[in-house]
Amino acid sequence: MDASLLKKAAAEQAAQFVEDGMMLGLGTGSTVFFLVEAIAKRVKEEHLHITGVATSSRTAQQATELGIKMIDINDAPTLDLTIDGADEIDANFQGIKGGGAAHLLEKIVALNSKRNVWIVDQSKLVQNLGAFPLPLEVIPFGSNKLFQRLAAENLQPEYRLNANGERMRTHNKNFVIDLHIGVIEHPHLLGDWLDHQTGIVEHGLFLDVVSQVVVGKETGVEILQA
Ligand code: A5P
Repeated sequence: MDASLLKKAAAEQAAQFVEDGMMLGLGTGSTVFFLVEAIAKRVKEEHLHITGVATSSRTAQQATELGIKMIDINDAPTLDLTIDGADEIDANFQGIKGGGAAHLLEKIVALNSKRNVWIVDQSKLVQNLGAFPLPLEVIPFGSNKLFQRLAAENLQPEYRLNANGERMRTHNKNFVIDLHIGVIEHPHLLGDWLDHQTGIVEHGLFLDVVSQVVVGKETGVEILQA
């Protein structure tokens, strides 16, 4: 089955977690696109009063256009629930995010949410993280020096480029460096090390963040409890 159908099925299932009156964090990506559509449909049909906080301008625009009330995270209380996609999830519910370069805003929203749910198609479930390159959002100033340090640690860094071949810029005008590490044996140790490297604003390891994963599978939708 087409992966986008599996993503849609997972997103529609997770939209059922939304309750009237909730403050919601809305992630970013192709799976969340289906989620926003499904939530907007419920808001309209069931006259739900929900307020959303977005993790990207793409999501903010889609949600607003579909009639979901959106506010800035700085004006929001702690969120009841954040639903987001992911690039990889391992057997211990640790994840990699940032394939869409939104992981900084996604992590800020996730950490300000009482509950985090990820929606994925079955291809995102892995035994160990690392086949998907690990994204870093980095400050442009001195980024080549940081790049050299990462290369010296054998972390196989690569600047992410846009369609014009220029270094891609994030929402906050930073660069993205992807690490092609291969199997990440110890995600917490790597996360700690990356947290201490000056110039890295945020990395895409989302550790001990998610409590439920909704997976679109060929056999149906499955809800995994962390
Ligand atoms: C955005 O930066 C990412 O963290 C996305 O949430 C992740 O890449 C999932 O994207 P898809 O739903 O498009 O696969």
